[in-house]
Amino acid sequence: MSETTSPAPASTPQEAEIAAALGMRSIVLVGMMGAGKSTIGRRLAGRLRLPFTDADAEIAAAAGMSIPEIFETHGEQHFRDGEARVIARLLDHGPAVLATGGGAFMREETRNRIRDRAVSIWLRADADIIMRRVRRRADRPLLQTADPAATVSRLLEQREPVYQNADLTIASRDVPHEKIVDECVDALHARLCGNGAAAHETRDGISATP
Ligand code: S3P
Repeated sequence: MSETTSPAPASTPQEAEIAAALGMRSIVLVGMMGAGKSTIGRRLAGRLRLPFTDADAEIAAAAGMSIPEIFETHGEQHFRDGEARVIARLLDHGPAVLATGGGAFMREETRNRIRDRAVSIWLRADADIIMRRVRRRADRPLLQTADPAATVSRLLEQREPVYQNADLTIASRDVPHEKIVDECVDALHARLCGNGAAAHETRDGISATP
């Protein structure tokens, strides 16, 4: 269920260089629920003229039911196994921009596949931003708890040390989406096209770790 974004003007040399350097590899967005992986991923795909795929949407389509229904009917473990299979399949069909669910990168096998077949970007968001963005929606089974804020803190504690293994880290925050996309493009270009390939810090405190 890949979707190409609407036609965009000819890509800049920087964007074209990134697409060329990727070859068959994909760009994979990882990070917590509410970090903006799908929103940013869709826009980034448009900029790089790549198809965009949302892994959660693919899992739901493969199962013929929504994510909450999969959790309710089959349990989290079943969902995680399906998630790993779907991401493996999608990574075999690069290049694309792929947004993954917040728990996907926690599985070692999936991390290894992403390392081998993609460049990963951790969209890092703090607890306040996450809570503000997920509060109004009931489609995250893991947050259907008595104290969702405590659940988010616990998940952040468990997951951030693992998300840190992504190739690049971009701070997701309340600025226009295009600014975050610009930062992804700059970090990808630095990483893939070797202009000052060493780790760099930008004005906004965004680190790109080679
Ligand atoms: C999950 C995140 C969700 C979805 C599922 C589990 C998680 O995706 O995969 O509800 O474990 O953090 P998003 O990160 O796109 O919300």
